Amino acid sequence: MFKYKAISYVLLMIMMLGSRALLAIQDEVSYANTQDVISTHLHLSLNVDFEKRQLKGNVEHRLKWLNSKANSLVLDTRAIHIDKVEGQLNKKWTPLKFVLGEHDGVKGSKLTISADPSISVVKIHYQTVPEASGLQWLTPAQTTGKNHPFMYSQSQAIHARSWIPVQDTPAMRVTYSAQITTPKDLVAVMSAENELPVVKDGDYSFKMPQAIPPYLIAIGVGNLEFAAMSNQTGVYAEPSVLESAVAEFNDTQAMIEANEKLYGPYRWGRYDLLILPAAFPFGGMENPRLSFITPTVIAGDKSLVNLIAHELAHSWSGNLVTNATWRDLWLNEGFTSYVENRVMEEVFGEPRAVMEQYLGVADLKVELTELDARDTILNLPLDGRDPDDAFSGVPYVKGQLFLMYLEQKFGREKFDPFVKDYFDHFAFKSIDTQTFLSYLNNHLLSKYPEVISSDEVSEWIFQPGLPKSSPDPQSDAFNRIANAMSEWHQGKRELADLDAKQWTVHEWLFFINKLPRDLSHKTMVQLDKTFSLTNSTNREIQFAWFSLAIVNNFWTIESSLESYLKQIGRRKFIVPLYKLLHEHSMQRREWASKIYEQARSGYHPLAQNTLDQVFNLKPE
Ligand code: BES
Ligand code: ZN
Repeated sequence: MFKYKAISYVLLMIMMLGSRALLAIQDEVSYANTQDVISTHLHLSLNVDFEKRQLKGNVEHRLKWLNSKANSLVLDTRAIHIDKVEGQLNKKWTPLKFVLGEHDGVKGSKLTISADPSISVVKIHYQTVPEASGLQWLTPAQTTGKNHPFMYSQSQAIHARSWIPVQDTPAMRVTYSAQITTPKDLVAVMSAENELPVVKDGDYSFKMPQAIPPYLIAIGVGNLEFAAMSNQTGVYAEPSVLESAVAEFNDTQAMIEANEKLYGPYRWGRYDLLILPAAFPFGGMENPRLSFITPTVIAGDKSLVNLIAHELAHSWSGNLVTNATWRDLWLNEGFTSYVENRVMEEVFGEPRAVMEQYLGVADLKVELTELDARDTILNLPLDGRDPDDAFSGVPYVKGQLFLMYLEQKFGREKFDPFVKDYFDHFAFKSIDTQTFLSYLNNHLLSKYPEVISSDEVSEWIFQPGLPKSSPDPQSDAFNRIANAMSEWHQGKRELADLDAKQWTVHEWLFFINKLPRDLSHKTMVQLDKTFSLTNSTNREIQFAWFSLAIVNNFWTIESSLESYLKQIGRRKFIVPLYKLLHEHSMQRREWASKIYEQARSGYHPLAQNTLDQVFNLKPE
């Protein structure tokens, strides 16, 4: 009790302070001296060299000096070769001195450029390394079409610095433009205005007139074609995936409209999707105007399109209102998971939306038992760690549950306009948790003081685990399955009588995840025979089934699992599977490490990094 009182006192103080000047917040994983100087616009001029696996060229930063006595511009870099730095003084370029600091395992190298407020633009000539943490270079064999190489960036959280010397903190925003040269038979696209129709000539220009945090600067290069889904939306993909992607994602326009109805206008012009090769380590990445999407959600039945609703929702939560530091990631991901689900409800109906809530919460509950207590706090203590190492479902689902809790307490008629106004109020700004809390207090809590106490809010934001008051989504369809399953467990029903014929992917996931982890071999055989799960082609169902099969020692999955692990690089799938194999037995561990050896070069540097730790290849 005393602890809560103390915390709510702190909360009160924070609320009274109100919003602070954000660039005064030092981002613990950035070197940038944003108190002295900020880059307001950057121009990239880069050549994409697939043979050398290198981006080479320069970046120009237009500067706004905030401190007239400042004598340096400090940028973030990681493993970038700097050739020279120039500064513009009275419209003329002059060489500038620079020092590249020692490499830090988390932050990379500090680039200190000697410059003062007389310098209005700096130009840095540089080249990336083949292992750049924010780029993945794929051979033709690793693409769907098998004939052309592919390259793409993934800058969130702190990887923009591995391909652009930049003030790599989400507390700041830049507009950008770019001139990109590529081999003539490839197309480059960016998180910006892309030229339509696509003319393959190896020379592409881009303009991003809206200010975005640097982690949203993104590029993709490959054998890409474009197909429109509506006037505003379309898909870029390798030719062989284009048609199936369009069919899968053609509700995107309806999703935009649902989002706008709830939370105000979509402010970014076009909204397109780039379908990446299966090595992409995430489900999706909300790069503005052009979300990057894993092909593993092209299921043929729209069962996994909540991913599109998610990346689109970031056009409000994240891209419009941005977390100021990575400790505040829940402001991006929690709001986005909440908005995603509201949009799914609008477009696909409440029963499906509730099933998705349930599945998310079930995963979170498992994760909460595995994580360090500190990593289950919404206002995440990073303590100098790489944000990648503190990544979990907590900012997503606990954040979503907190917002669902507010929705339930205040009612949609009050909560929906609050969220809409919040996006509007902080549009194109970066805010931290404190700023959100003070806005929440002023615009909702103190308006209706009888609804919830500040103690309750502080528990959600500053305490580990899930508060007792957490919403508990219930799906009728899932409850029916649970009842039928218990009848089956009690021997009152046959497997074949579970009425599974009409099940959706969500219902299958509920069913598989609810099965005991200590089933007999006979039951596993029976399950597989009845439902043919080893042959499923749905990437989520496969994942759930393989996870169950590994712990239940059902090794009929061997060859399906092998091709799954070799085809897919999505971390959410491959990391838990490798971990289960590693923990299972010596035999499975050896099998897994052999597969990893063969598959490793096809995985993204981020996935390699995580899995090297699993297999102790890089003792840390
Ligand atoms: N922005 C994230 C991906 C991300 C987060 C990359 C943190 C690097 C650091 C993206 O919007 C996301 O959340 N993707 C999820 C989608 C899912 C929750 C529907 C994913 O990749 O699985
Ligand atoms: Zn997200």
